[in-house]
Amino acid sequence: MSTSGKNHTVTMTDNASGKSAEFPVMHGSAGVPVVDIRSFNKEFGLFTYDPGYTATGSCQSKITFIDGDKGILLYRGYPIEQLSEHSDYMESCYLLLYGELPTAEEKAKFSYDISHHTMVHDQITNFFRGFRRDAHPMAVMCGVVGALSAFYHDSLDIEDPWHRKVASYRLIAKMPTIAAWAYKYTIGQPFVYPRNDMGYAENFLHMCFSTPAEEYKVDPVVAKTLDLIFTLHADHEQNASASTVRLAGSTGANPYACIAAGIAALWGPSHGGANEQVLNMLEEIGTVDKVPAMVARAKDPNDSFRLFGFGHRVYKNFDPRATVIGKAAHEVLDILGVHDPLLEVAVELERIALEDEYFIQRRLYPNVDFYSGFILKAMGFPVSMFTALFAIGRTVGWIAQWNELIEDPEQKINRPRQLYIGEPSRDYVPVDKR
Ligand code: CMC
Repeated sequence: MSTSGKNHTVTMTDNASGKSAEFPVMHGSAGVPVVDIRSFNKEFGLFTYDPGYTATGSCQSKITFIDGDKGILLYRGYPIEQLSEHSDYMESCYLLLYGELPTAEEKAKFSYDISHHTMVHDQITNFFRGFRRDAHPMAVMCGVVGALSAFYHDSLDIEDPWHRKVASYRLIAKMPTIAAWAYKYTIGQPFVYPRNDMGYAENFLHMCFSTPAEEYKVDPVVAKTLDLIFTLHADHEQNASASTVRLAGSTGANPYACIAAGIAALWGPSHGGANEQVLNMLEEIGTVDKVPAMVARAKDPNDSFRLFGFGHRVYKNFDPRATVIGKAAHEVLDILGVHDPLLEVAVELERIALEDEYFIQRRLYPNVDFYSGFILKAMGFPVSMFTALFAIGRTVGWIAQWNELIEDPEQKINRPRQLYIGEPSRDYVPVDKR
């Protein structure tokens, strides 16, 4: 889709050598065009410097589009608000993987195939037992998902489209089983096996909250809301974890190893780990009267503390996922009759921050993680499971990005350069002379 413009170029001049070179500008179907600097080093003998990749496009992609100034998020062209209202997670997964909305038959077949891959190799139950009972669920997920490559040898050939498809379905299908079991393991309850007659979110709730002694009755409102949360988290273009998956994938690593790398990147508090930190932060604030002190801390240049659930690298107006989830949080808590006093703290925090010059100037708004925790908490999930739930929803995005990378002839091993600022070459000094 992108056109490298004969018409549109950028000319750069190196003031030291006086040399000039022209670089084509590539236009996508939407969003900011990019300058193709692949010949930059050949032309000037220089590399570009962009820590955090704040100005760097790493690939061409047809999957997800974000306009951070306008608060737009599209999966394959469809606005997240429309998908949230009319679609569901299985349909969004199909859309992200295949590029088009499924027909009724395609959707039924896809859901059937996913539900028939939810069981894990029985030997994996022993793998769980190697962890301490107080292990964080994300630690367990990094380990167990990476270990899938030791169990499913028939889907490791990344050059084979069938292997890639089987691995993709397995990862989407088994992630809820692994996350639910990570939870069960920490609370000392037996693992609950998946049920093929249940929907994706419903089955996950069943595996988390049923016991052999008592079947958990899944409230349809709860299942629908969890499905919405998965849909909202399904993909977010070249975010840190998707880029990590792509980077690992660029080496030819197998899909299970790549997704384990994505889970590790997601865990950090600047990324998916923020949903856990939001609740911890609100608990620390405790009451509405203590909100101003926390806001003052977040603004203090000498304090590294940040308000979790605020700010985004790309969204500089509002996060459309936060709008949907904020509304859902209030509605679901009402329906479930849950009164969470921390919700009042959150509402006050949002109010004060949105009126504060510091946040206005830096264009810091609540992101998706700000309200999701309330819903998950009301459903009965402990705070330590929040990021694991994010990982379940995001798996399809990682997989879609990974498949796109493998099929992209322009992609090669991802290998950034550096500006070396260490010691220049020097001679080794024997230990008795130091
Ligand atoms: N609280 C207070 N100040 C903040 C915050 C915050 N949450 N976020 C950014 N700032 C300030 C930052 O200190 C800097 O100020 P100054 O210009 O005075 O130095 C300015 O805003 C720009 O920050 P930045 O670090 O350059 O922005 P970034 O694009 O590199 O970081 C972010 C984006 C999401 C990592 C950051 O906003 C943050 O740490 N937020 C809190 C963690 C969080 O909620 N993460 C979830 C992101 S959404 C879900 C996901 O993608 O996983």
